[in-house]
Amino acid sequence: MELFCFLFIFSLISSARVSCTSFNVIDYGAKGDEVADDSQAFLNAWNDACSSSSLRYPQVIIPENSTFLVNPLTFNGPCNSEYIYFQILGTIKAPSSPQSWDGHDASQWLAFKGVNGLKVEGGGIIDGQGKKWWDQSCRYHPDLKGCTKLAPTAMKFLSCNNSSLSNIHFISSPQTHALIFGCNGFNVSNVSVESPGDSPNTDGIHIHASHHLSITYSNISCGDDCISIGDYTSNIEINNVQCGPGHGISIGSLGKSGNFVQVEDIHVYNCTFNGTTNGARIKTWQTGRGYVRNVTFENLQLFLVDNPIIIDQNYCDVRGACKELASGVEISNVVYERISGTASRETAINLNCSRSVPCTGIRMESIDITAQGRWPLIVAMLADRKVLWCLGLVSNNNTH
Ligand SMILES: *[C@@H]1O[C@H](CO)[C@@H](O)[C@H](O)[C@H]1NC(C)=O
Ligand SMILES: *[C@@H]1O[C@H](CO)[C@@H](O)[C@H](O)[C@H]1NC(C)=O
Ligand SMILES: *[C@@H]1O[C@H](CO)[C@@H](O)[C@H](O)[C@H]1NC(C)=O
Ligand SMILES: *[C@@H]1O[C@H](CO)[C@@H](O)[C@H](O)[C@H]1NC(C)=O
Ligand SMILES: *[C@@H]1O[C@H](CO)[C@@H](O)[C@H](O)[C@H]1NC(C)=O
Ligand SMILES: *[C@@H]1O[C@H](CO)[C@@H](O)[C@H](O)[C@H]1NC(C)=O
Ligand SMILES: *[C@@H]1O[C@H](CO)[C@@H](O)[C@H](O)[C@H]1NC(C)=O
Ligand SMILES: *[C@@H]1O[C@H](CO)[C@@H](O)[C@H](O)[C@H]1NC(C)=O
Ligand SMILES: *[C@@H]1O[C@H](CO)[C@@H](O)[C@H](O)[C@H]1NC(C)=O
Ligand SMILES: *[C@@H]1O[C@H](CO)[C@@H](O)[C@H](O)[C@H]1NC(C)=O
Repeated sequence: MELFCFLFIFSLISSARVSCTSFNVIDYGAKGDEVADDSQAFLNAWNDACSSSSLRYPQVIIPENSTFLVNPLTFNGPCNSEYIYFQILGTIKAPSSPQSWDGHDASQWLAFKGVNGLKVEGGGIIDGQGKKWWDQSCRYHPDLKGCTKLAPTAMKFLSCNNSSLSNIHFISSPQTHALIFGCNGFNVSNVSVESPGDSPNTDGIHIHASHHLSITYSNISCGDDCISIGDYTSNIEINNVQCGPGHGISIGSLGKSGNFVQVEDIHVYNCTFNGTTNGARIKTWQTGRGYVRNVTFENLQLFLVDNPIIIDQNYCDVRGACKELASGVEISNVVYERISGTASRETAINLNCSRSVPCTGIRMESIDITAQGRWPLIVAMLADRKVLWCLGLVSNNNTH
């Protein structure tokens, strides 16, 4: 079932021919009528594309103007080609009922596992239909019998190299929209995420155990962190991301299980936060060990953000339930530069550092945050007193 296509690229001075092989889900029996279960067609198209050998660019095509209902699915690698494209032109829709996950792993809907050179793109829509999951989540309905803590992530990328996700619109995931786990070399760009600000645990993009990753030119509106950076991560670049509503761009929480945290070389710049609960956040548990180091937050615009700059080295998910410990995750060399805009509360900067493993090398420059109707406050518990000079850099001109 291989369809061959030839793409001719002409220009005035040269011409090139690239051969590609398309695996259109329609040719595998997908209906795209929003009703029929198209899962098997998707899997068959993937398996043929993934095992097609001699050609360099197999592409799975999900055509436009159609909506494909698909059950939980895993697209497994490794594939035979150096690159494989997953072109989502139309809409892929999850079943609306949580019962559809009976007998399946409730943590995921669509997953790519062990694939190299994967390119997911196409301008299409991933609709997680999360409403029924949200309505039964323990977070907002703790008294509901059979409430759920775990709901599917719309799209997971597990163990991959040299891959990318671009030009895709995610809506209403039951929980996290996209997870990148165990990947080396991953670019996310021109992606949008759209879920209500009160949808439970709907992180935009979560990164874990991944290196050399970028997230750029993307707009994220959701009910949890727009981007959350988990453990064992390094070389993460985030720029031109618009976050809001949501919980900001967060590193953590880290170290909950007492593990040795390793997070470093993170650069977040040219981003905006609109109506978010946090801006630039780092949170670690006192039970953790290890480090978070070399982090830069630069050139950020804030519009009515609850906690614009926050480090919480004493993080605890239930306020007051964690007693003070002599351990903690070391946080060092964190730079905040050119961060401006408005805070919605009076505390603009909160550096809640550990007494036993103090934050070091925190540098602030050109911070200009105005608290609405109040003088902004800075709360800092630091061994390194030098940081307090930043006080003078926070403007206190009230708006009204
Ligand atoms: C999809 O719909 C648009 C707008 O109706 C139309 O212009 C386009 O030709 C359609 N594409 C296909 C492949 O049918
Ligand atoms: C990714 O690259 C690493 C290092 O080269 C390799 O060990 C791993 O198997 C690769 N992953 C996949 C899915 O091929
Ligand atoms: C971004 O993605 C949209 C579709 O989601 C597409 O129309 C647009 O051309 C893309 N922009 C860039 C710069 O690739
Ligand atoms: C990623 O791609 C680059 C360039 O094509 C290649 O040199 C490198 O070996 C690839 N890395 C992995 C882990 O596949
Ligand atoms: C990711 O982006 C970088 C910088 O633009 C580029 O060098 C690299 O090849 C891209 N990798 C992938 C897998 O798209
Ligand atoms: C993000 O929003 C801006 C307008 O604020 C728009 O120009 C841009 O295309 C959007 N990008 C995506 C990926 O949706
Ligand atoms: C800090 O991280 C950046 C990437 O964000 C990297 O380019 C730089 O080399 C790192 N600096 C040190 C001292 O490791
Ligand atoms: C980031 O913003 C600065 C200042 O506005 C600008 O000079 C720079 O080109 C921007 N970089 C990116 C990658 O957006
Ligand atoms: C912030 O979001 C609100 C509500 O969505 C919108 O009306 C406003 O224009 C946004 N502000 C900025 C500066 O983007
Ligand atoms: C700092 O963290 C501790 C422990 O969670 C908490 O009791 C305290 O209120 C926090 N201080 C501020 C200023 O947020």
